[in-house]
Amino acid sequence: MPLYHKLGKIPQKRHTIFKKEDGTLHYEQLFGTIGFDGMSSLMYHLHRPTQVKEVGKSLDVTPRAAVEHNIKSRLLKGLEIKAQDDYLVSRKTILFNSDVHVGLAAPRKSMTDYFYKNTDADELLFIHKGSGTLKTMLGEIPFEYGDYLVIPRGMIYQISFDSEDNRLLMTESYHPIYTPKRYRNWFGQHLEHSPFCERDFKLPQNLQTHDEKGEFLMKVKKQGQLHHMIYATHPFDVVGWDGYNFPYGFSIHNFEPITGRVHQPPPVHQTFETSAFVVCSFCPRLYDYHPQSIPAPYNHSNIDSDEVLYYVDGDFMSRKGIDEGYISLHPAGIPHGPHPGTYEASIGKKGTEELAVMIDTFKPLKLTQAAMDIDDGKYYQSWLE
Ligand SMILES: [Fe+2]
Repeated sequence: MPLYHKLGKIPQKRHTIFKKEDGTLHYEQLFGTIGFDGMSSLMYHLHRPTQVKEVGKSLDVTPRAAVEHNIKSRLLKGLEIKAQDDYLVSRKTILFNSDVHVGLAAPRKSMTDYFYKNTDADELLFIHKGSGTLKTMLGEIPFEYGDYLVIPRGMIYQISFDSEDNRLLMTESYHPIYTPKRYRNWFGQHLEHSPFCERDFKLPQNLQTHDEKGEFLMKVKKQGQLHHMIYATHPFDVVGWDGYNFPYGFSIHNFEPITGRVHQPPPVHQTFETSAFVVCSFCPRLYDYHPQSIPAPYNHSNIDSDEVLYYVDGDFMSRKGIDEGYISLHPAGIPHGPHPGTYEASIGKKGTEELAVMIDTFKPLKLTQAAMDIDDGKYYQSWLE
């Protein structure tokens, strides 16, 4: 997060004496990335954050490929993923490669009896349905429909939902998730041509400090295993922190689309970047205003990337038979484009209400059985006249 933030009490100078009311010391922890070269935060605990009591069972949650080498365009009916009580159990990876796992989740219950951290990957959650609060060791972020939540790897969190009707699109990224570099200046500040800026981010707030000893279950994802660890103190015992490495939220509704006289390419919708994939937000916007413009996209060959489009809401001008929660996968190497009739029908249209999230990966994606279970099986033939 290219933004400095702090919450709670911290000493004036780092790595110096910082005492509790009883005269004992706080325990400082550097929470950093990319060795000591990336973003970091410096936090102050009531107790040592290293007090492991037991290491219990480990579950293998590595995704398995049902389709290893995909050349078909696919249409997956995302809302057919079954709702389940537990947040982690409800998370189903549908598409993956060595850089990124894309998944869906329909959790019914809040996470209350354990804590979770993903040490393998940054997580990007998109809230399609539901609302609640992301609770972390660095503070809380309330979320609602349309929010992206960026959770850096290693962040301990719980997630709390306001109701049982929740639908999430998840991305686990094995590379750090940033906002696009071209929208930031040399200092990291968002530039004037950026479709969003610092004011749009939801930063952690309401830091809760728990001074509790006992047995605290933490499920730690590492190397595709979900390790069950028992810690001796409450993981949310931070009295204060500052720095740049923290979770944050961003509402897709705050993305200000960039439009033009003729069709603008997908990068104008880019919201996040990594070294291995990008995430774009397709938001309600005015169409191209050249008198001869064709608003629907041209056929295109994304030779170098698989394209995943998650349809959130609104009408989709270039597609037929698309409903909310549907996911199209257009694999690298073959062209795709507007469905028959939609290219012509888009001429003269003034705007669109479409809302969608796109994930373009630079390596091909494999499909899991969970994806095959919701695959319509015939989408690849849907351009035939
Ligand atoms: Fe495309």
